[in-house]
Amino acid sequence: MKRLVLALLLSTSTAAFAQTKVSKKAMKALVNESLAFSARQYKGMMTAVPDSLFPRSTNKDGSLMTAKYNWWTAGFYPGSCWYLFEATGDPAFRAEAEKRQQHLLANQFRTNTHDLGFLMYCSFGNDLRLTKDTAARRILLTSSTSLIKRYKPAIGAIRSWDHAGWKCPVIIDNMMNLEMLMWAAKESGDKNFATIAVNHANTTIKNHFRDDYSSYHVIDYDTATGQVLAKKTHQGHSDASAWSRGQAWGLYGYTMMYRETKDKAYLDQARHIADYMLNHPNMPADLIPYYDYDAPEIPNAIRDASAGAVMASALLELSRYVDKTESKRYWNAGADALVSLSGETYRAKEGANNHFILMHSTGSMPGNSEIDVPLSYADYYYLEALLRYKMWTGK
Ligand code: GLY
Repeated sequence: MKRLVLALLLSTSTAAFAQTKVSKKAMKALVNESLAFSARQYKGMMTAVPDSLFPRSTNKDGSLMTAKYNWWTAGFYPGSCWYLFEATGDPAFRAEAEKRQQHLLANQFRTNTHDLGFLMYCSFGNDLRLTKDTAARRILLTSSTSLIKRYKPAIGAIRSWDHAGWKCPVIIDNMMNLEMLMWAAKESGDKNFATIAVNHANTTIKNHFRDDYSSYHVIDYDTATGQVLAKKTHQGHSDASAWSRGQAWGLYGYTMMYRETKDKAYLDQARHIADYMLNHPNMPADLIPYYDYDAPEIPNAIRDASAGAVMASALLELSRYVDKTESKRYWNAGADALVSLSGETYRAKEGANNHFILMHSTGSMPGNSEIDVPLSYADYYYLEALLRYKMWTGK
């Protein structure tokens, strides 16, 4: 099977984004084979990670980097196990997800982080979706109640970090935490959750984006007046540059907000962000972005496969909300990014890469942290995109 997929893909190494060269048959084989590979790879992961910890990345010495329950990425591993349970029906993945997410429980009461969506909705949210578990529902409502305590009415946004050096920072990544709030509003009937999510999304449109629809990473606000104090980067090349994962978070966030509200302003925002990425002269032919669209080292800059995976998953969804011509362009771009991620450049060899699925992601270039490594969230959004492809093609 693996050989067949490789043969079918041989002609696709120079994928052009609006014009996928992969036949539907080849794509179906690729997606199925990639899910089967991922399941085998994560079976290895299960035994490699100490019980109360979560796989995070690879250390500089090549060993597995783990995270504690409160690190922002801890929810992605149980989330990936839920996706693999969904893909394979193998109860070992459900058992692993349930076991690991027990260690996340203390997060539901935290008010010192904005990452509760990543932490809890990617884990317990998938649990609820797949099993209808009532405990997961309760945990997610508690997490949502904790998250909105960070809402700043004068700004109209949820505060991101509590780090020293900022007054009230809001990062583009925070768009990803709104999905849990939209769910909580529907589930509880309390509209306040949705009002806060909508206000945050609107404030972010107003202040995070430039005229070309690229986004700043961090906006620092005056907490009392809501005034913008500074527009900065933290993980991108410079304050004026377009950090790739930030662009992907924005694309995903506004696509999701359109799904949840049907407000056309969010659809337009997502389309503009997608067009910014796909028309960018620095977008590589394989559709896996450099870590920053303005990285001075381009074409030799480091890539960020996690940005490629988040973008692929978001483009597949966005393609469902637009007209036929645009739909084809976004769908094919998402599929082509998936083809790239599933090829030998980005996908690990079986048993290698500390059992992560994807290689070549970048956490923070300016922080000299997690550069050109596997990252748990790259795997999570890759699995999500594979499943979305399968679900929306009926295959
Ligand atoms: N939310 C942090 C990151 O994307 O690196």
